[in-house]
Amino acid sequence: MTERIQPLITATDIAQRLQTLAGEIAPHIGATPLIVAILKGSLVFCADLIRQLGYRGVRPTLDVMVLSSYGCDTSSSGHIQVQLDCREEIKDRQVLLLDDILDSGLTLHFASQQLRQRGAATLHTAVLLDKPERRKIAMQADFVGFTIPNLFVVGYGIDYAERYRELPDIGQLMQE
Ligand code: PRP
Repeated sequence: MTERIQPLITATDIAQRLQTLAGEIAPHIGATPLIVAILKGSLVFCADLIRQLGYRGVRPTLDVMVLSSYGCDTSSSGHIQVQLDCREEIKDRQVLLLDDILDSGLTLHFASQQLRQRGAATLHTAVLLDKPERRKIAMQADFVGFTIPNLFVVGYGIDYAERYRELPDIGQLMQE
């Protein structure tokens, strides 16, 4: 089987959307929010978004959580494993939680619950890609970069079996 990547969202499209997305987010998170990126997928998204927020005067503290869902199949068992937890104090902070894809919703729901339980003063969520067709629980992000159909996408931090994260564009993985 050969793999091919069909272009879907170019690096230019992403850069333009992140400029407007940062403008949408900035008024809601205060001047010195805590930004928590769910790794590894949101690494590239976070790197670009924090600079766009910086241009708008936001001076964030940055932290990360490494989460993974595992089970019998790729559509997730609903069990989220915390591989690395964030270390910043969450209590009374204005928190922006970032993920690359909102798919079943289980990862973002789990991380949101964790941060609320730790006493975040406000919690907003932003995802680069939303695949609403795949949802298993009621979960919406406050801010969405692009809403996409149920395609298997890679690039811009998003992997297939740990590959393709380095690609500047987002594309659909075709296996032929
Ligand atoms: C992916 C993605 C999101 C999550 C979304 O992470 O980065 O964090 O799945 O899926 P969900 O809405 O169904 O929970 P993955 O576990 O593949 O790890 P990665 O971020 O290291 O690629």
